[in-house]
Amino acid sequence: MDVLLCRASTLTWSQSISPCLHSSAKPFSRCEAKKFRVFCTSDHTQKASQMTVSVTGATGFIGRRLVQRLQADNHQVRVLTRSRSKAELIFPGKKTRFFPGVMIAEEPQWRDCIQGSTAVVNLAGTPIGTRWSSEIKKEIKESRIRVTSKVVDLINESPEGVRPSVLVSATALGYYGTSETEVFDESSPSGNDYLAEVCREWEGTALKVNKDVRLALIRIGIVLGKDGGALAKMIPLFMMFAGGPLGSGQQWYLLFILWTPFN
Ligand SMILES: NC(=O)c1ccc[n+]([C@@H]2O[C@H](COP(=O)([O-])OP(=O)(O)OC[C@H]3O[C@@H](n4cnc5c(N)ncnc54)[C@H](OP(=O)(O)O)[C@@H]3O)[C@@H](O)[C@H]2O)c1
Repeated sequence: MDVLLCRASTLTWSQSISPCLHSSAKPFSRCEAKKFRVFCTSDHTQKASQMTVSVTGATGFIGRRLVQRLQADNHQVRVLTRSRSKAELIFPGKKTRFFPGVMIAEEPQWRDCIQGSTAVVNLAGTPIGTRWSSEIKKEIKESRIRVTSKVVDLINESPEGVRPSVLVSATALGYYGTSETEVFDESSPSGNDYLAEVCREWEGTALKVNKDVRLALIRIGIVLGKDGGALAKMIPLFMMFAGGPLGSGQQWYLLFILWTPFN
């Protein structure tokens, strides 16, 4: 029996960023699975499900993997960056076989990129894993609000017909503050520390997007991947035997493991 496993999917957080293999059939057992033969969809169907996604912070730890994944799923990617030269080092599309067709745009061209995109993913912001001076704290908050505000304005100003239909905007688990006893879910109130304040204002800026644009605010936990983020900062210390217990053993946290087939 032939079964069509690929189908168009919109960009939703619950379904993941990209169309994955969905089966409309009921779950099948291992034994039954042997009877299935999977075949690729026609070009026409692939075109219909192809998205154009503009990404701020695409040059960062999470953004690079997102771009890889979107490209692997045959979507068009537009990298919205502050620095073309930096982005070209990360996405050397013209000179190598990696990242072919990625469009790179500095801020003056963001408007043209956002118009005509299916979705915008907003990940940009000054890294928080540094020593927090009062200047850095100001920049951590302002950089996120500045970029989010710009993205929201550009989406809202886009004429109907070329306006993206989805904005996926990053925020963080820091929204909830910390507790050694409470369990947080989406309905929990925001905390009262500095990161919670950043996340509230960051989300508040994204919430100004037009009501006809679907907004997905993703409260990201600590992302672990071997080539960046929190883990890359911790590993050298452990390699020098300077690591220690990371908590009392009673702590809990939601972690994201960043994995792609390109590892
Ligand atoms: N990684 C985690 O564990 C984690 C956890 C929770 C939330 N998040 C959030 O998820 C988002 C992506 O995380 P990430 O780890 O991929 O971040 P990242 O590696 O630090 O990359 C962030 C990107 O933001 C842009 N950026 C840096 N400084 C900026 C500034 N001052 N103004 C405007 N843009 C600036 C840069 O892109 P260009 O230079 O190309 O403009 C950079 O590549 C961040 O907003 C982060 O706060 C991450």
